[in-house]
Amino acid sequence: IPVDPFDLVIFGGTGDLARRKILPGLYRRYQAGQMPEEARIIAAARSDHDDAEFRDIARAAIEEFIPEGKRDAASLDEFIERLSYVAIDATGDDGWAPLSEKMREGMIRAFYFSVAPSLFGPIAERLHQHGIAGPDSRIVVEKPFGRDLASARKLNQTLAQHFDETQIYRIDHYLGKETVQNLMAVRFGNVLFEPLWNAQYVDHIQITVAETVGVDGRGAYYDKSGAMRDMVQNHLMQLLCLIAMEPPSRFDPDAVRDEKLKVIRALEPVEPYQIVRGQYEAGGGQPSYRDHAENPRSLTESFVAMKINVSNWRWAGTPFYLRTGKRLKARTSEIAVVFKDAPHSIFGAEAGRHRNILTIRLQPNEGMMLGVTIKEPGPGGMRLVDVPLDMTFADALGPEAEDVPDAYERLIMDVIRGNQTLFMRGDEVEAAWAWTDPIIQAWEERDDAPKPYDPGTSGPEDAQMLMHREGRRWREIR
Ligand code: BG6
Repeated sequence: IPVDPFDLVIFGGTGDLARRKILPGLYRRYQAGQMPEEARIIAAARSDHDDAEFRDIARAAIEEFIPEGKRDAASLDEFIERLSYVAIDATGDDGWAPLSEKMREGMIRAFYFSVAPSLFGPIAERLHQHGIAGPDSRIVVEKPFGRDLASARKLNQTLAQHFDETQIYRIDHYLGKETVQNLMAVRFGNVLFEPLWNAQYVDHIQITVAETVGVDGRGAYYDKSGAMRDMVQNHLMQLLCLIAMEPPSRFDPDAVRDEKLKVIRALEPVEPYQIVRGQYEAGGGQPSYRDHAENPRSLTESFVAMKINVSNWRWAGTPFYLRTGKRLKARTSEIAVVFKDAPHSIFGAEAGRHRNILTIRLQPNEGMMLGVTIKEPGPGGMRLVDVPLDMTFADALGPEAEDVPDAYERLIMDVIRGNQTLFMRGDEVEAAWAWTDPIIQAWEERDDAPKPYDPGTSGPEDAQMLMHREGRRWREIR
């Protein structure tokens, strides 16, 4: 179903995110018939380009980031015609009048701030001064949304001077991933899981986001962030919230976000011994983290693993273990809900210990899998084995499920539809920083040195210990 016609202005329209994600994503939606013919995309950036030059940039980006079999010349030409460019000075006067002239009446207006946070204020102010943005306009902002509570609060205040909260779409692209939404469908669309979804039946939960890439090419940004700010405060926190939250009464933006906020507020502070930080060494012909970051004494973590307690009735006593890192063994993101042992085994000790585990895989091979214990076939007596009830979406739902839209495609369309459910509210972001800040501050005060780990592994040995000492173990990264 096509969305309503819109004018989308992308500030930073020639930048990395625009080239990698936003423009290819919009093209895919055009191709799928979701972006209407009347929609227009205006890139605004500092450099001097004309429309033709920008269209070449956009075409090259789409050709680079969308595989050949998934694009076609005719629709690409049509899409490119809908693009134009304005050279703009975000902190000065140039370019604003031409931008204003390009905007059409009666269209949805959306402004994507794909720029440094220091420009949010100046751009918001000028959009209003020149009458380009009004009460119905929407703005989209990206992470990093601040680097601590104070800076996030300031950004929220800056945006609030010009826009109402209902106009602000803070992107966390993890919320746009197909499986993440499916997690809500599975939890709240079935009667099967919710009664068991609590400390009485769940032993613990593991959330792993492992990457094989290093920080090459973005060391300057990353070295000032580290895994805690780059991944945990936002992406992993959002996943934790969706697992831990109470059922909202409706699937609407504030109902969902209210429940997520309650989870963040229920997180206990994390003690230093419950966290392991790591930093990758050189290996496999690749430089070390410190070389990538061009900072020989860097104390920034490229890996972090931690145990988190959620203090509320549902989860008290059931820990959440989170880990994420770069240059690990495999690229895989998954959530595992590990259920408790059966209270009593009627099959005796030789039947072994068996547990039900629900695995929710974000990537690759999106899907869910429930490990169920059954009898090993054959006459060998009552021997038990675990078999997966496999709900890989592509297998269950056919080829359409294989071609799921990328997170950005979906989220941009949600902006145009005016649906904020999958976007972070200002208070949520602040609460996440309020929880993260003391952890980072403690590291900084102690000059805490991350543990080195070899690339291609599961991170530092201490991360294994974090679980082992409690009689648990991480699932294999693969
Ligand atoms: C980004 C982080 O937000 O998410 C990156 O800044 C990380 O460091 C990326 O690589 C991971 O996203 P995805 O979708 O590839 O899992």
